[in-house]
Amino acid sequence: MIRAFRRDAIEDDKVWRILRNAWRAPSAGHLEPQDFVVVRDQGVKKRLAEAALGQTFVGEAPLVIVVCSDTRRNVGRYGERGRDFYSIIDGSFASFIILLSAVELGLGACFVGAFDDEKVSKVLGLPKEVRPIGIIPLGKPAERPRRLNRQPLERRVHYNSYGSSFSRSVKR
Ligand SMILES: Cc1cc2nc3c(=O)[nH]c(=O)nc-3n(C[C@H](O)[C@H](O)[C@H](O)COP(=O)(O)O)c2cc1C
Repeated sequence: MIRAFRRDAIEDDKVWRILRNAWRAPSAGHLEPQDFVVVRDQGVKKRLAEAALGQTFVGEAPLVIVVCSDTRRNVGRYGERGRDFYSIIDGSFASFIILLSAVELGLGACFVGAFDDEKVSKVLGLPKEVRPIGIIPLGKPAERPRRLNRQPLERRVHYNSYGSSFSRSVKR
């Protein structure tokens, strides 16, 4: 995750490459609820930063993509589970593809999930059934990515049932 960006604009062909990759994201039942709002307008970015609980770096990126799920496309076939669960996962897959595509193009990005849904919806004019899933600022990195420590893998992998150690049972 990169949270400091150079001011250089991202060329349209790069934006399209990122979006074409995200468009291929999987979705439950192939219902394709994912929508992408591409934001370059400085005023809109600033308001998104405010809606993201004041995370100012959102407004400092040359480009922001807001991944949304149109829950109307999930709810028809899958009811509540589609609306409340699949829609979020579908949007998350597409978001992760955006993050990976950014890296592939030498860009940096950050998934921002801490935001006020209603404020984001208002800023972007989203219909009420269209849920914002992630705000993703992108740009050329102006910082080196930090490699954070992770909890030991052994502690997080379970074998056959939760709590049984995989590493003690299986050779590396
Ligand atoms: C659901 C979710 C929400 C997140 N929300 C934010 C956020 O609002 N602001 C932010 O700076 N990073 C956010 N992140 C990024 C995480 O902080 C980051 O992935 C984590 O610290 C690990 O860092 P790394 O991915 O660079 O290794 C979010 C990540 C996830 C998966």
